[in-house]
Order: sequence, then C-alpha cells, then structure tokens
Amino acid sequence: MSEKIEILQVASVVPGIEAKLNAAYRVHRASPGDTIAPDVAGRVRAVVAGGGAPAGLLAQLPKLEIVASASVGYDGIDVAGASARGIAVTNTPNVLNADVADLAVALMVMTARRLAAADKYVRDGKWLTAGHMPLARKASGKRLGIVGLGRIGKDIARRAEAMDMTISYTNRKPVEGVSYRFVPKLVELARDNDFLVVIASAGPDATKMINREVIEALGPDGILVNVSRGRVVDEAALVDALQAGKLGGAGLDVFEDEPKVPAALLAMENVVLTPHLGSSTLETRTDMGQLAMDNLAAWFAGKPLITEVPETQAARRVAT
Ligand code: 8YV
Repeated sequence: MSEKIEILQVASVVPGIEAKLNAAYRVHRASPGDTIAPDVAGRVRAVVAGGGAPAGLLAQLPKLEIVASASVGYDGIDVAGASARGIAVTNTPNVLNADVADLAVALMVMTARRLAAADKYVRDGKWLTAGHMPLARKASGKRLGIVGLGRIGKDIARRAEAMDMTISYTNRKPVEGVSYRFVPKLVELARDNDFLVVIASAGPDATKMINREVIEALGPDGILVNVSRGRVVDEAALVDALQAGKLGGAGLDVFEDEPKVPAALLAMENVVLTPHLGSSTLETRTDMGQLAMDNLAAWFAGKPLITEVPETQAARRVAT
C-alpha cells in the first residue's frame, strides 16, 4: 500500500469532511500561527485552511505544493509568498453565495425592524410591563446600494428585488447584464440610498474604504450592513457616527479585530451583531469542505484545479 500524502489542517471542518480527509490523507492539525515540528513540516505537501494561512506558516513548509482554503476570501493567506514559490491556492466561491446573501438581507431587515432589540424586549418581560415597542423602520420598497456586485452581491440584489427595493451599486467597473444603476463614487452611492450593503472583496485597497465621509453620507436614517471584512469599514468612524446620531443603524457580521467587538457597539439597540457566520450552516460548510477536498484530489491526480485563485494561477502559468 502506498504511503498516504501528508497534509496540515489549520481550520476546523464539519465532521463529514473531517472523516473524508482522514480516510484520504495523513492529517496533521495545528493553528495558523503555530510552530510546526520540523519533521512533520518537512513532509507536508498541502494545507487545508479556512481563510487563514500566513507567511509564517507557509515558510515552515518546504515541500508545500497547495493551500486549499474552505473560504471564498483569501485575504488571510500569503498569496504573494505562495505565488513566488509556485504554490497553488484554491478557495471556495459560489457554494456560499446563498448563505451570505441570506445573512445580508436578514441583517438589513433585523436592523431596520429592530428585531434583536425586540427579541430581548419580549425575553426581558417588557411587553408585559411597558406595552408595545416604539415603531421601527420599513425595509421593503427602500433604496439599496451594494458595494461590490460580484457573485454574492448579485444574489443579494435578487433577494432585494423581491422586496421591491430600488438597487444601485458600485464596483471596480460596471457589471454587464444587470439593470441596476452603476454609481462610480462610493460617497454618492451612500448619499443616494437608505441601505448600504458591503460585500466587496477585501484586497488591500479596500481597507477603510467605508470611511467617515461615506458613513455620514448614508445619514441619520441610513443603515450600513457589512458581510465583507471588518477592515473594509473604518470602525472608529462607524462608532462615532452611531453615537452622534449621524448614522441610523448597522448590521455587522465582521469586525476589525475579531473576535473583539468595540464595547460601544454592544450597548447600542440600533445595531445587530453576529459573529462572522455568513457561511456557517452545515449544508454550506459541507459544500465548502468538499470543494476544498476536490481541489486537493485534482491536484494530487495531476488534473486541473477547480477553483484556483487568479493570482497563483497567473504566477504558475508564467513559471511554466
Ligand atoms: C463569511 C467568509 O462568512 O468564506 C469567507 O471568506 O468570510 C464567508 O464565509 C462572510 O463573507 C461574512 O459574512
């Protein structure tokens, strides 16, 4: 029997995928920031990640050939380092679109309708003692601006259409085949809309793209939803605007320094907070884990990768 290929798993996967990985490979487990025992490090040919594989990890693995990440975002992976060494990086686009779009819509509705505060109100017995809650704001029929009309952004727009929302968007360039209005300037998009949903891919140029000016342009009745990455929003400016009543509310799944959330946000009733769970359903995590495994299987069978990220694909093409 041939020896099993040795891989390093630095993210948790659902039990069904865990079992399949164990059956197919000799699996070592660690966290992305760990020091790996040199004898193990010297035998590892693949990393299974969940969006995080920093330079310090990859540098310990001289025989590394591929990083298969069960995530669509790969901003936490040292793609430049991997490209320079001819290492392939794969992600898991598409299979999580519906879940992240569902969450974006849920956060819009929850924030406008104050549903988190309402749930607490009932549990705290306030319905009995204080009667009905103050009126909230409507979501259907309002204007929605989408920051990043990629695969997930389009799924958010389709859902918003069913809510009779007027949709406009900003993006690096206009997207073909959609009827939504393209607004090149982010600050104008914010000014023209009631809701701003951020689902831009989080390259370095996106850091703090949702700045004070953009947040204030959205205005005292506006609602910001972030299902991209925390660092895309200037969190300090967001807290200031909410405290000063310059922004109406926020629905946030991602934060600058996860799992830390600014204390000021915890106390605000017009804010809905979730712990980075955009793709956290059993079904979708199973699909993401399976796609990561399919990429590994393709690689070790010498077949084309299914979902390699463009950066390493380009680098490996140049090298051959
Ligand atoms: C998130 C993600 O849950 O795959 C990724 O890279 O971070 C998603 O699964 C989502 O984008 C944040 O809501």
